[in-house]
Amino acid sequence: MNVLLIGSGGREHTLAWKLNQSPLLNKLFISPGNAGTASCGSNVAIDWQNFSELKNFLLQEQIEMLIIGPEDPLVAGLHDAILADSETKHIGVIGPKREAAALEGSKDFAKEFMFQYGIPTANYKSFTLETYEQGIKFLEDIKSPYVLKADGLAAGKGVVIVDDLHEAITEFTAMLKDEKFGAASKTVLIEEFLSGIECSVFVLTDGESYVLLPEAKDYKRIGEGDSGLNTGGMGSISPVSFVDETFMNKVRSRIVEPTLHGLKNEQIPYSGFIFFGLIKVNGNPFVIEYNVRMGDPETESVIPRLDNDLLDLFIATQNKTLQNKTIQISKKTTASVMLVSGGYPQNYEKGKVIQGLDQVKDCLVFHAGTTTNSEGNILTNGGRVLAVTAFGETKEQALARAYQEAEKIKFEGKYVRTDLGFDI
Ligand code: AMP
Ligand code: GLY
Repeated sequence: MNVLLIGSGGREHTLAWKLNQSPLLNKLFISPGNAGTASCGSNVAIDWQNFSELKNFLLQEQIEMLIIGPEDPLVAGLHDAILADSETKHIGVIGPKREAAALEGSKDFAKEFMFQYGIPTANYKSFTLETYEQGIKFLEDIKSPYVLKADGLAAGKGVVIVDDLHEAITEFTAMLKDEKFGAASKTVLIEEFLSGIECSVFVLTDGESYVLLPEAKDYKRIGEGDSGLNTGGMGSISPVSFVDETFMNKVRSRIVEPTLHGLKNEQIPYSGFIFFGLIKVNGNPFVIEYNVRMGDPETESVIPRLDNDLLDLFIATQNKTLQNKTIQISKKTTASVMLVSGGYPQNYEKGKVIQGLDQVKDCLVFHAGTTTNSEGNILTNGGRVLAVTAFGETKEQALARAYQEAEKIKFEGKYVRTDLGFDI
């Protein structure tokens, strides 16, 4: 089977690495990919927003499966476009259509859906410019901390949590009146604050049945002890010690199954990953957010623990035969440490030469933001540069190995958060 994978991050390198091991794979293309994905298949520069360019490539290379890594093409309706064209509609797509992608693309839609289907989540109210005054009144009536969320996609930056009422009002005003997050903050949600510990749970579903992948925990803040600015993710660990069987049974029965039931009931077909961003409060799971794709950097610790053929699972998703599949998971722990550019998540420089990649042993190195220059050097090309994933019998062993090997990789300004796993 010829496959095209869309994306360019650590998630996509990990998926490409895994797909490349499948005996069912003929040719793998990654668009645009990075220096790491180039070792798993062929990088191709196709603009997915230009449908005729994408279509030409799909037909020319006889692509039978399109795997969409990030959320933007899903929310924009790339799956729908493939289905709407008589020459491409036979191509299997991993990733939902636009309507289902609204679970991630609109927090307001996701919240309404959860309330309709009794899926535990924080209480909330939504406001627009027309209901601005009511929003202020609502903020004055509720207790701190205040959780404000832009409705639409805001590259992970659309959530603001503050303790001070005046700050909350300032933020709320900036979002609604000044469109701080552009069109994404035309609707703003004010949510009840939940206190607990977070984890990420993933399923792959064909809309009828599902398989559960290993859970993970990611570390979003730049600094030790969960301090400083939010990032795309500084690393991840799988499994997560506080996710025991009792908790997971609750996740399945209260969250995963009602979500799939709700989608079916609304006649919203789904094929692909659902990422449940959860928080454990007094032993019970609540949904913080849905994502309609795999997590990044969670993929870098989750997929290496999967012993199944990933392409085989994708084919079963396409054929709606996932019910026949059983997931095989390594008992080992994986820890994935992100190497980022100095200054990230604010301003940083690109184009730094990366050295020492060939020194790394017994670890997987997934590229997140890298490129190759004309001399064949591998250069930094983003804020998050590389993820070093190690296996261990324990979390401590996996982390020690990942940190030790991450030391060997050098580039100017390299920064690593050193306390992953401190809270589990
Ligand atoms: P989101 O983009 O919705 O995942 O939110 C980003 C982060 O904000 C989450 O990972 C949580 O750490 C935090 N957060 C979001 N909603 C809440 C809430 N209702 N209560 C407490 N923390 C929250
Ligand atoms: N790790 C969180 C995300 O992928 O959105």
